[in-house]
Amino acid sequence: MAELSELSEKLSAIKSQIESDLAGITSSKGIFEYRKSVMDSKEGKIGSLMKEMGKIPKEQKAEYGKMVNEIRNWATEKFDALDAEFKAAEQKARYEAEAIDVTLPSKKLKKGYLHPNTQVRNQIVDIFGSMGFSVYEGNEIETDHYNFTALNIPQDHPSRDMQDTFYLSPEFLLRTQTSAGQVHVMESQQPPIKIISPGKVFRSDDDATHSPMFSQMEGLVVDEGITLCDLQGMLDVFVKKIFGEETRTRLRPSYFPFTEPSVEVDVSCFQCGGKGCKLCKGTGWIEVLGAGVVNKKVLEGCGIDSDKYSGLAFGIGIDRIAMLKYGINNIKLLFESDLRVLEQIDD
Ligand code: PHE
Repeated sequence: MAELSELSEKLSAIKSQIESDLAGITSSKGIFEYRKSVMDSKEGKIGSLMKEMGKIPKEQKAEYGKMVNEIRNWATEKFDALDAEFKAAEQKARYEAEAIDVTLPSKKLKKGYLHPNTQVRNQIVDIFGSMGFSVYEGNEIETDHYNFTALNIPQDHPSRDMQDTFYLSPEFLLRTQTSAGQVHVMESQQPPIKIISPGKVFRSDDDATHSPMFSQMEGLVVDEGITLCDLQGMLDVFVKKIFGEETRTRLRPSYFPFTEPSVEVDVSCFQCGGKGCKLCKGTGWIEVLGAGVVNKKVLEGCGIDSDKYSGLAFGIGIDRIAMLKYGINNIKLLFESDLRVLEQIDD
């Protein structure tokens, strides 16, 4: 290239070409590609201009370099400006597309409910947990020995008739009571023992207040000097927390082969306050659980020195507590999973 004037013309032509090319570009991506092609050091309209330097007479080199720099700066400014413009527009469009209308009413989230039995079980576990009890998970399938014999209910003992049992074989059965777990605990731990054991139990029994499968919560304390007073003290705390501060307890003599003495525990009717109503059948009291001082025979059978230690045990019917507490009059309602029932109980 001999004449700088020629170059000047060439540069003007490049400029107008770039101007018209730019008019057809509509995005920052387009600008990016176009800039790359224009500035490419081998092929680019501007990028390749420096390659020509070798052919320029020495005295014109400085001027040539200046003119090339000028057009490079001119183009860079143009690209930068357009790039910024497109990027701003593109960001705005994206924000608009992703916009959330915070004034729209929210989608209603359906709330789930824990089953009433689970709610009551959790409450009871919390109450006894706060008194230092730990939870023992027993087995639903037990042997005749753990469910009966070790609990001082030998074969042919009339009290076996109290609980109609589902036998799986002459030896194995579905436990009829969480008391079976007591024996496992006492066989494997030395006192002090303080456990509760919630779980399913099974009896061939079926009416408005009985179901073949229901839930119990066993409690067992074994230590030196444990008496029935400890039992009443703990149960007082328990019923006040479950049924309300006004609730009182009453112990009535009863019979269980594995406790001696045995008691039924009644609570003052939390519906009428003890005056007598339909719920308490006019008596002012409602029976809620069986309990007693662990029979010495049972302690000895588990290898615990009954002269040194004594124990107390109680068995709470979880379904029964749930039915009383939430006014459920048929145990079947606890097994039907009817949302119209379940949604009413959120304690
Ligand atoms: N296991 C007895 C029942 O199911 C309840 C109970 C437990 C009684 C512990 C006394 C002590 O009827």
